[in-house]
Amino acid sequence: MLLDQYQRIANYLRIGVTDRCNLRCRYCMPEQGIDFAHRNDLLSYEEITRLAQIFRGLGVEKVRLTGGEPFVRKGIDQLIQQLCSIFPKVHITTNATLLDGYIEALKDMGVASLNISIDSLDRERFFSITRRDDYIRVMQNIQACLDAELSIKLNIVVMKGINDMELVDFIEFGMNKGVEVRFIEAMPFNEVDGNKDVFMPCQDIEAHIKANYPSMNILPSDGPSSSNLYQIGAYRFGIIPAYSRSLCGQCNRIRLTPKGEFLTCLYAKKGLNLLELLRNEGYNNDMIREAIVQQVQGKLKSGFDEEAKREERIFNSMTTIGG
Ligand code: 5AD
Ligand code: SF4
Repeated sequence: MLLDQYQRIANYLRIGVTDRCNLRCRYCMPEQGIDFAHRNDLLSYEEITRLAQIFRGLGVEKVRLTGGEPFVRKGIDQLIQQLCSIFPKVHITTNATLLDGYIEALKDMGVASLNISIDSLDRERFFSITRRDDYIRVMQNIQACLDAELSIKLNIVVMKGINDMELVDFIEFGMNKGVEVRFIEAMPFNEVDGNKDVFMPCQDIEAHIKANYPSMNILPSDGPSSSNLYQIGAYRFGIIPAYSRSLCGQCNRIRLTPKGEFLTCLYAKKGLNLLELLRNEGYNNDMIREAIVQQVQGKLKSGFDEEAKREERIFNSMTTIGG
């Protein structure tokens, strides 16, 4: 079991499989993209699978593939298949633009659920946020997942003045489709201004929804979660305090970046370079395993403590970490 010094169990690994993406969401990346990693600097599928087995041996039960956009990486379905044979729960975070043709296969492999990022229900606004005209495709793929009964949630990064006028529309959409929506605070990951001008704290998101649905209740947490849970009638939704970091005390998450850096917190300054260890013949699996255990023991109490150790306050694109 991976236990940190605050008695939190790390049993949920997020694997960033690529820093590339076919969208250019304003809160995440500049128009021209970022300085993307070279292929050789990325973990290969074989290397990810080798690490996956080590992490499974350390008690990790759930993995999530993220990016960038996982489906821009060639042959990703082969990796998903492998991971489904190693972990009881495999989840994927995706922008859903490239899901065509994969949905049945994902279901057959036993993928537990997809988190689909969609920041607007309006085609033009979707275009202005993502800088790509993929709204129709995304909506079609969301519907295709529902038709195939592949479990999904919708992730919305909330930005003041940009899409906060759609909070109620998203709740209505979620209610109609029977899909949980989760509103995410915009984190300072965009290399330019750190999303400061558009930041909307979770209390404001909550207050806005409550004003429209006075019967809204706050639900108690049902285990380690990154999300505050709410209920309106029988409908449940979430708000993720990604910047406020109020849920660090129950964090069970660890991360592997596309370049093989192992991070114990999204806000951590520096991680353990697992790519280097994997490619060093002097290191066997037991030694890698021990290095992982040590790294988890060094996890700090909160994302604020981690951030305090960094010099820079605006982070590189989220895709270099894995969303
Ligand atoms: N703040 C909050 N969420 C972000 N994501 C990407 N960048 C940010 C940010 N700056 C989210 C995406 C997606 C997941 C991969 O991470 O919208 O839901
Ligand atoms: Fe976990 Fe770090 Fe996020 Fe806190 S800030 S919930 S420790 S990943």
